[in-house]
Amino acid sequence: MDHASEKRQAGEAAIRYVEEDAIVGVGTGSTVAYFIDALADLRNRIQGAVSSSEQSSTLLRERGIPVLDLNAVGPLTLYVDGADECDPSRHLIKGGGAALTREKIVAAAATKFVCIIDSSKRVDVLGKFPLPVEVIPMARSLVGREIARRGGQPVWRDGVVTDNGNWILDVHGLRITDPVALETELNQLAGVVTVGLFARRRADVVLVGSQVMG
Ligand code: 5RP
Repeated sequence: MDHASEKRQAGEAAIRYVEEDAIVGVGTGSTVAYFIDALADLRNRIQGAVSSSEQSSTLLRERGIPVLDLNAVGPLTLYVDGADECDPSRHLIKGGGAALTREKIVAAAATKFVCIIDSSKRVDVLGKFPLPVEVIPMARSLVGREIARRGGQPVWRDGVVTDNGNWILDVHGLRITDPVALETELNQLAGVVTVGLFARRRADVVLVGSQVMG
């Protein structure tokens, strides 16, 4: 099956985790767009969504799903999002769409994180996909040097400004055998806003197409 069909299947399969009257945390990307399409059919049975990006907020509103402020709601029961890579322990690389900071916030607020991917995203070891790191603009070079000292090759995603007004470094050349340790270490660098490793808060369930990853 082609990857677009798998993404659609995953987006539609995630609907089974949506509870009556829920406020649903919604990620960002092409796989999530399929989830939003399917969620639109349930719009009268949920309170609304907390969105992780301006892009998803637009899609949600276009489909008549209320977009709620995270500060105005309690803990979320569910967060649904895609990923750029997923290892067998459900650790993820995210941020290909530059939405990693708000994605990490909404994931942290949710009891259950359901990750929806196509089979091309499955890897044994994270790092072939360049690791996105959101940085405060004035710290771009400083953070880049610190990452280079640790063996990564940072490339500025020139021209991209995140929803938070920051910049992205894509770090090539990493082989991430201890994602929790690397996330923790890079989080400490001055000027880093968010590391696109979702390991400390990993996915609880991964759907590859319609199948739960075993
Ligand atoms: C956005 C993300 C996306 O979840 C990730 O890039 C996957 O996108 P897609 O579903 O389009 O393949 O992390 O910041």
